[in-house]
Amino acid sequence: MVWRAICVLRVRCVTSACDSTHIQTPEMLLYGEAYEKCSKSHLTASRNLLAGSLRGYGFMSFFKDAKHLFVFAGLFVLAFLVFLVVRHYVVPKSFGEYGHYRGASIGEIAARPIKFAGHQACESCHSDVLDVKSKGKHAHVNCEACHGALEKHADDPSAMTPVLPDTAVLCARCHTASAAKPKGFPQVVPADHSTGLPCETCHKPHSPAMDAGGAK
Ligand code: HEC
Ligand code: HEC
Ligand code: HEC
Ligand code: HEC
Repeated sequence: MVWRAICVLRVRCVTSACDSTHIQTPEMLLYGEAYEKCSKSHLTASRNLLAGSLRGYGFMSFFKDAKHLFVFAGLFVLAFLVFLVVRHYVVPKSFGEYGHYRGASIGEIAARPIKFAGHQACESCHSDVLDVKSKGKHAHVNCEACHGALEKHADDPSAMTPVLPDTAVLCARCHTASAAKPKGFPQVVPADHSTGLPCETCHKPHSPAMDAGGAK
């Protein structure tokens, strides 16, 4: 069956007896006299091949069209070389120095100007605000979460005076009711709750709770 299939596909035969018949059409090969001849010679050929392969000869003749494989393998090697050359020029020099990223990016990020001062810096000068805030519900909300990045001001207060936040925007950002927020988190519908008044009319931003008339 195997030889018959090869015959139909017109693969060149190992035996000389077969060569001439193989130029014929598959139909002729299958049904004609040629096929008879062919199958006979193939039977001999396969026997020869089996015997030959033990000696090494059959093995080589089996791979006599191996140059196609070499061309194919050569193309792979060539493509790999092109890949290496392109990679050399495209991948940044420090890539992979520490991990799967540019090693130089650490220095670049560290060299960026600092924007946030951190709440300890604010508290060292504005201890009065800290006193109020630390006793209220906003004790754990840090200064720059509301006032924005203020490293420039903390570094030199006279160089830059912070703009006071607009509570209608600021407070709503955290407290507008939403099903996505944890149930325990204090939420209001600003328009209904404040009836248009600014939040700081009733709440002190640094200590917002209003229990029994006293701020907390
Ligand atoms: C070195 C001391 C110092 C540090 C640090 C500092 N401030 Fe100030 N801050 C001042 C001084 C002084 C003023 C008053 C400046 C003025 O009125 O022009 C001021 C004013 C302010 C004001 C009020 C502006 C106004 O219009 O009343 C806010 C708000 C403020 N600071 C927030 C902060 C925050 C937030 C931080 C931390 C990121 C901070 N400050 C860090 C000294 C400091
Ligand atoms: C929950 C948001 C919030 C936090 C947190 C917060 N502030 Fe404020 N802060 C405000 C708002 C809003 C105002 C403006 C109030 C107004 O317009 O009357 C303000 C005003 C100020 C002022 C102007 C003077 C005053 O007391 O009204 C200073 C100074 C100040 N904040 C510093 C700080 C510092 C320092 C911290 C951190 C220790 C801090 N704030 C934390 C919201 C906040
Ligand atoms: C950065 C987010 C944030 C901003 C901005 C903010 N808050 Fe809060 N607020 C909180 C957190 C966090 C709490 C504490 C919640 C808790 O205790 O579970 C809180 C608590 C409160 C409470 C107390 C609720 C209670 O439990 O009684 C009130 C009132 C309040 N905020 C009003 C305001 C007002 C008014 C503003 C605007 C000046 C404001 N908040 C801005 C985060 C924020
Ligand atoms: C007219 C006064 C008034 C104004 C204006 C106002 N509130 Fe309130 N707010 C209250 C009172 C009163 C309470 C209930 C007492 C408390 O919980 O401290 C309250 C409670 C809250 C609470 C806690 C709700 C809870 O579930 O515990 C939040 C959050 C809050 N307000 C945010 C705001 C925000 C944000 C604004 C501005 C958009 C604002 N409030 C404006 C009077 C006011």
